[in-house]
Amino acid sequence: MSCFSCCLSEEKVNKGSTRKSTQDGRDGRDARTIASSFANSFANLSFKSDSSRRRYIAGEISKYGKASISAQFFSFKELSAATQNFDPQSMVGEGGFGRVYKGHLESKNMDVAVKQLDRNGFQGNREFLVEVLMLSLLHHSNLVNLVGYCSDADQRILVYEYMANGSLEDHLLDIGQKKPLDWKTRMKIAKGAAKGLEYLHDIASPPVIFRDFKASNILLDEDFNPKLSDFGLAKLGPTGQLTAKSDVYSFGVVFLEMITGRRVIDKSRPSEEQNLVTWAQPYFRDKRKFHMMVDPLLENQYPKKGLHQALAVAAMCLQDEDSTRPYINDVVSALEFLCDTDGKDEGVLSPESSMAEGRN
Ligand SMILES: Nc1ncnc2c1ncn2[C@@H]1O[C@H](COP(=O)(O)OP(=O)(O)OP(=O)(O)O)[C@@H](O)[C@H]1O
Ligand SMILES: [Mg+2]
Repeated sequence: MSCFSCCLSEEKVNKGSTRKSTQDGRDGRDARTIASSFANSFANLSFKSDSSRRRYIAGEISKYGKASISAQFFSFKELSAATQNFDPQSMVGEGGFGRVYKGHLESKNMDVAVKQLDRNGFQGNREFLVEVLMLSLLHHSNLVNLVGYCSDADQRILVYEYMANGSLEDHLLDIGQKKPLDWKTRMKIAKGAAKGLEYLHDIASPPVIFRDFKASNILLDEDFNPKLSDFGLAKLGPTGQLTAKSDVYSFGVVFLEMITGRRVIDKSRPSEEQNLVTWAQPYFRDKRKFHMMVDPLLENQYPKKGLHQALAVAAMCLQDEDSTRPYINDVVSALEFLCDTDGKDEGVLSPESSMAEGRN
């Protein structure tokens, strides 16, 4: 029995249930000899923990030395010039790792996001270079591309492609005067974000657990295509037993935020509404109330079947038991189906078979 029998044929789910190769991924990598030889050398190794993996990588890097990855190295001077000396006016955001500035690299004639990491967060130069190397191995159209880095003196700076529309959080939760995202765009963003996670879980080798999947880490380009950021900074994230299925849960949380326009924790709401997942449970069980969950900013502009399917996906991802949550590739298949059929009559959700409604 598939996870999403409510909205997918068995065949479609099974299509997604083995490890897939995609058009994206390693093909897109440029000729970074060190990176590929490094990748080949540990692609088939498994590691007990992130720290043992990092120790191994650090050892590998020390064999090559910093000079070998200098292709993406930027001097502090160049990044200062790109950001007008890290002018507060160029700052586009600030998170747990440090400040983010918009910059322009004259040498490449491109806009970039320059993330100046809080120096307390990283233990040393080598560890920073390990992270850079790990990030530079990961390429997918739904991941923000790492353009380069700077490790001059005690600086720890990452340079990413610039995402013109900022984060999903800016367009969903901190919306201000911006135009609300329509239903179709929300589903497109959910699908792309799931594909980015699928790449990290199923294609990257060794697999990468995101750990901090949230709306502010889903960035949007000029056409509102989503790209995930900060997946490589996981070691500074929460500790504990986090697995690919914890990422699936986090995906469910963000997807529910996208449907409802509500923050996962919102202290400004009445106490029974402050925790989004708790608030949603009784609604999940009663399809007559599904419409009450929808973001009022959508002004009732959404396909009814699409809503049922989306809530079914969210509810599955939010199962308490991680073993009953779907794998991310099943989520991708469900969302591909949802995006293909949204607004058309052939949506196949039947109320009786809805997993969301069937939960109790
Ligand atoms: N590549 C980028 N292009 C454009 N804007 C970006 C880019 N990276 C980050 N930003 C902006 O900077 C903000 C802060 O990002 P940052 O990753 O530092 O913090 P966060 O995502 O809120 O929290 P965390 O540190 O936990 O990831 C983002 O919400 C986004 O608006
Ligand atoms: Mg972030």
